Amino acid sequence: MKIIFATNNKNKVEEIKHLSHQKFQIFTLEEVGIDIDIPEPHDTLEANATEKSSTIYKLTNEAVFSEDTGLEVHALGGAPGVKSARYAGEGRNMQDNIDKLLHELKDKPSRAAQFRTVVSLIIGGKEYQFEGICKGHITHEMDGSNGFGYDPVFIPEGSNTTFANMDITEKNKFSHRKKAVQQLIDFLNAYQA
Ligand code: IMP
Repeated sequence: MKIIFATNNKNKVEEIKHLSHQKFQIFTLEEVGIDIDIPEPHDTLEANATEKSSTIYKLTNEAVFSEDTGLEVHALGGAPGVKSARYAGEGRNMQDNIDKLLHELKDKPSRAAQFRTVVSLIIGGKEYQFEGICKGHITHEMDGSNGFGYDPVFIPEGSNTTFANMDITEKNKFSHRKKAVQQLIDFLNAYQA
C-alpha cells in the first residue's frame, strides 16, 4: 500500500522512516513531486493536522497522513503549544524560540513540559486521528546538536539527557511522534480497504 506523509520537514521523515512497518510504503511530498507550503492556520494541533492531510488528499486522492506537534509547558499554561514554530514571532528562527522559552521559564519553579503529536490519516475518504505524548522537562541551557526544534532543551522522563544528545533510535524510545505513528502503523496493518 502506498501512503503519502504530508510534510516538508526532513527530520520528521527521517524519524518515521526508522520505524518498522509492513504492508505499506511511505512517500514524502518531495517523492510524489508536490512542492507546496501547507498552511497551519488553526488554533489546535488537531485542526492543523487535518488541514495538512486534507490539503494533500484533495491534490492526490491517495492515502495520506500528516502530523502536527507542539511543546506544552505546564508553567506557561500549555504554551507555546500549537504556536511552537512561531513562539518568538513570525519570521524568527528556532534559536529565538528557544531563547524566549528559557527566558519565560527563568523564575518558574516548575519546568515540566510535554511534546504532543497529533497524526491525521485520511484513507478511503475517512479521517482518523492518533495522539502521542512524551512528558519531560525543560533544561536551563541548550545541550546537544542532534535532532531539531526544541530537542536541545527537552529531557524526556526516564532519561537524564536531552533529545539532542540522542540518535534517532534512542529518541524513538521516548518520542511523542513515535507513539502517535505507532498507533497509525498498527491501524494500517489491520486496515482492510
Ligand atoms: P510542527 O509540527 O512542524 O508545526 O512543529 C512545531 C514546532 O515544534 C516547530 O518549531 C518544531 O521545530 C517543533 N518540534 C516538532 N517536533 C519536535 C520534536 O520532536 N522535537 C523538538 N521540537 C519539535
